[in-house]
Amino acid sequence: MILVTGGAGYIGSHCALALIEQGFDVTVFDNLSTGHLKTIETLKNISQNNFEFVNGDLLNSEELDKTFDSGNIDAVIHFAAFSQVGESVKDPAKYYRNNICGTLNLLDAMRKYNVDKIVFSSTAATYGEPVRIPIDETHPQNPINPYGFSKLAIEKIMDDYDRAYNIKSVRLRYFNVAGADAKSRLGEWHDPETHLIPNILKSTFANSKTFRMFGTDYDTKDGTCVRDYINIEDLVQAHLLSLEYLNNGGKTDFFNLGTKSGNTVREVFALCEKVTGKDISVETKPRREGDPALLVADNTKAKEILNWHPEKTLEDSIKSAYQWEKNLQEQING
Ligand code: UFG
Repeated sequence: MILVTGGAGYIGSHCALALIEQGFDVTVFDNLSTGHLKTIETLKNISQNNFEFVNGDLLNSEELDKTFDSGNIDAVIHFAAFSQVGESVKDPAKYYRNNICGTLNLLDAMRKYNVDKIVFSSTAATYGEPVRIPIDETHPQNPINPYGFSKLAIEKIMDDYDRAYNIKSVRLRYFNVAGADAKSRLGEWHDPETHLIPNILKSTFANSKTFRMFGTDYDTKDGTCVRDYINIEDLVQAHLLSLEYLNNGGKTDFFNLGTKSGNTVREVFALCEKVTGKDISVETKPRREGDPALLVADNTKAKEILNWHPEKTLEDSIKSAYQWEKNLQEQING
């Protein structure tokens, strides 16, 4: 059985779905602080009795022990974390306690119950301000916010837990994750939403806020920030391949997940107009604090070692995100 922490959230739920569809037994462990019960219901409905949900908190070791005690856990995929950069600057205690202490409890439960494989949701934010583009895995890791630092600390802890306790980990450093399940059963559902694509798409619905474009004076081809948008379904595949890698005796390692190509905010905006067929209103705003001008992944290592081959385009991601957003608006507005 695979334990998926944070499986009620955006990326965790898509991963749980892929595992369920591949026939794995899956237990989602989530405290529903940012995830949704509706997402859990969707996973339950799709599963063939190979899905369980534990409403639990990683900061509560007893709940973790109970879950490890009752389940036959072969490996863990760990998503549960707070992930808003801006919030982490305002309230670092929340990020350090939840992300780092929560992961320590999880790793200690793994030690106690002899579970020795974990795939961890890390981030490009562990690199900080890029010193070269594209960013490969040997790029210096100097995070510029508590969110990035919390994820880097966990990466370091995982190295020590491998050396001392033989727990093998794969750390996947995500760039900008985009899109939704192609069948629109799941999608991105954050409250508040801070990400680019859902914010552009949301702005096309009635009674919604005008889309705000942060920063048009960067030293890039059209003045807006460049990001590497990786499709959620492609991203999830890398988690399944990482499990396979660990099951085959793979050593502790870390991989970037991105496409090796970047798009500006204006390009993303134009593609959203194309996909929705709408003229979308935009307010241009000053730069958002802490946004690097350019973030693009070198994904060679994941391709070579995990045999990962992302296939979907940015337009695919925007199409699936738009379909999901339409469903979500219907659910919210009836
Ligand atoms: N942007 C807007 N308007 C919005 C939202 C975003 O103009 O309403 C711009 C941002 O300023 C940025 C780009 O769109 O230039 C992308 O912003 P996102 O918030 O979608 O994504 P980030 O690149 O800021 O964040 C991503 C991950 C984080 C991770 C970070 C690493 O979502 O978890 O990369 O730097 F920490």
